[in-house]
Amino acid sequence: MVQKIFIKTFGCQMNEYDSNRIYDSVKKIGFVKTNKYEEANCYLLNTCHIRDKAKEKVYHEIGRVKKIFRSKKKPLVIVTGCVAQAENQEILKREPYIDLIIGPQSYHKINNVILNHCKKKKVLETEFDAVSKFEYLSRIKNDSGKSSSFLTIQEGCDKFCHFCVVPFTRGPEYSRPFSQIIDEAKNLASQGSKEIILLGQNVNAYNDKGLKLSDLIFEIENFKEIERIRYTTSHPKDMTDDLINVYKNSKKIMPLVHLPVQSGSNKILKLMNRKHKIKEYLNIYEKLKKVNRNIEFSSDFIIGYPGENEEDFNDTLNLIKRIKFINSFSFLFSARPGTVAENLKLINRDTCLKRLKKVQECLAEHQLKKNKSLENKVIKVLVENQTKDKLNLFGRSEYLTSVILDGNIKYIGQIVNVQILRSNRNTLFGKIIKKFDKKVA
Ligand code: SAM
Ligand code: SF4
Ligand code: F3S
Repeated sequence: MVQKIFIKTFGCQMNEYDSNRIYDSVKKIGFVKTNKYEEANCYLLNTCHIRDKAKEKVYHEIGRVKKIFRSKKKPLVIVTGCVAQAENQEILKREPYIDLIIGPQSYHKINNVILNHCKKKKVLETEFDAVSKFEYLSRIKNDSGKSSSFLTIQEGCDKFCHFCVVPFTRGPEYSRPFSQIIDEAKNLASQGSKEIILLGQNVNAYNDKGLKLSDLIFEIENFKEIERIRYTTSHPKDMTDDLINVYKNSKKIMPLVHLPVQSGSNKILKLMNRKHKIKEYLNIYEKLKKVNRNIEFSSDFIIGYPGENEEDFNDTLNLIKRIKFINSFSFLFSARPGTVAENLKLINRDTCLKRLKKVQECLAEHQLKKNKSLENKVIKVLVENQTKDKLNLFGRSEYLTSVILDGNIKYIGQIVNVQILRSNRNTLFGKIIKKFDKKVA
C-alpha cells in the first residue's frame, strides 16, 4: 500500500527547506506527498517556536487532525522543528496523540525512527548532531524542482540575543562544508533552479576553514543556469567588507539586503544583547549604497521590548524613515522560555499595540511609495508558478516583491520583462512585454 504523508510547515525558510529535505528522505521508504489531510497515513507538522502563538498553533493543528481522523484509522503523527526541540517532553505529555518527536538536528534519523515506530511506542529524537545530519542529507538528492530553491548552508547561532530561542532550538553555529554546498547547488541548477536562496540563522557568519559566504556566492555564480542569488538571514555584526564587495563584483546577487536591526535605539540594542550600535548599522548602509545606489534594505523589528520608552520607539521610527526599508517584518515582543528576556517586566500591551501599528504604517508607506514608483516601468521578474486560481502567473521582482502577471505557463521558471500596470502595498501587477533574452542552457 502507498504510504501518504501530509507535511505542514510553520516558521522560517529554514523550516521550509527542512520539510522538503525530510520529504526527499521519507520518499526512500515509500512515502508519497499528499495535499489532503484526510488521505494521509502520516501527518508531519514542522513547527516554529519563535513567538508564543506559534506553539499554540501546534496544539490547534493537532486538534484539527484529531477531528478529521475521529472515525478513521489514526495516522502516524510526527512533530518536528523548533517546538519539538524546545518542548519535547512537554508536548508528549500535553498531546498523547503525537507519536514521534524529532528535533531539527535529528532529521537524518527520520527513516529509521519511522520504521522502528511499530516496535516502540513513543520516540523522542532531539540530540544536536548537525554534522551527521548534513552528511546524510548530502547523499540524498535535493528534489526541489523549483525555479527558486532554498539551500541551507549554516545552522544554529552563538549570538544569544536576549529575546531569541534559536540558540536553544537549533544549537551552536555550524557551517556545512563548502564542497557539499556547491554539489547541492549544482544539482539544483541541473534541475532547473534559476534562483538559489542561501539560508542560515546567521547566514553571513558562514565560515568553512576560512571560506566565507562571499566565496560561496562567487562559486555559485559560475553555474550559468543560476541567474539570481540571495541569502538570509544576516546579522549586522557579520556584514564584513568582503560581503559588501560582492555587491560590486557579482552579477547575480540581488539588490535587496535583508539585515534585521530589531530596534533603532542603542539602549534597546544593548538590552537585547545585539552586539552592535545603530552607527555601525548605518555605516553598513552607507557602504552598500556607495557600492550600488539601487540596493534597498529590508529588516525585522521587535516592538515593545522590555525597557522601550517613547524616545527609544521614536529612534526606531526615525531609522525606518531614514533607511526607507521595504519588504520588512515587525513583531510584538514575545517572552520566550529559557531566554534572558523571559522574565523581564513587560510594557503595557495597549502601548505596544499602538507602537506596532505606527511602525507598520510607516513601513507600509515606504513600501507603497516604492511600488508606485515602478508603475509603467519595466522590471525583471522570475516567474515561479501559477496563482492559486490558475488565472495568472506569480513571480518575484529583484527586490522580492510579489508580482502577478498574465501570461502562458510556458514562462514558469523564466526571467521575463514585465511592465508594471498597477500596484498596491504588497503586490505589483503587470504584463509580460518581452522574454528576457538571456540564454539559459
Ligand atoms: N538571525 C536573525 C537576526 O539576527 O536578526 C533573526 C532570526 S529570527 C529566526 C527572525 C526574527 O524573529 C528576528 O529577527 C526577530 O525580529 C523575531 N523574533 C525573534 N525572537 C522574538 C521574540 N521573542 N519576540 C518577537 N519577535 C522575535
Ligand atoms: Fe536569534 Fe538571530 Fe540573535 Fe541568533 S542572532 S540569537 S538567531 S536573533
Ligand atoms: Fe522558527 Fe525555528 Fe525558524 S524557531 S523562525 S522555525 S529557526
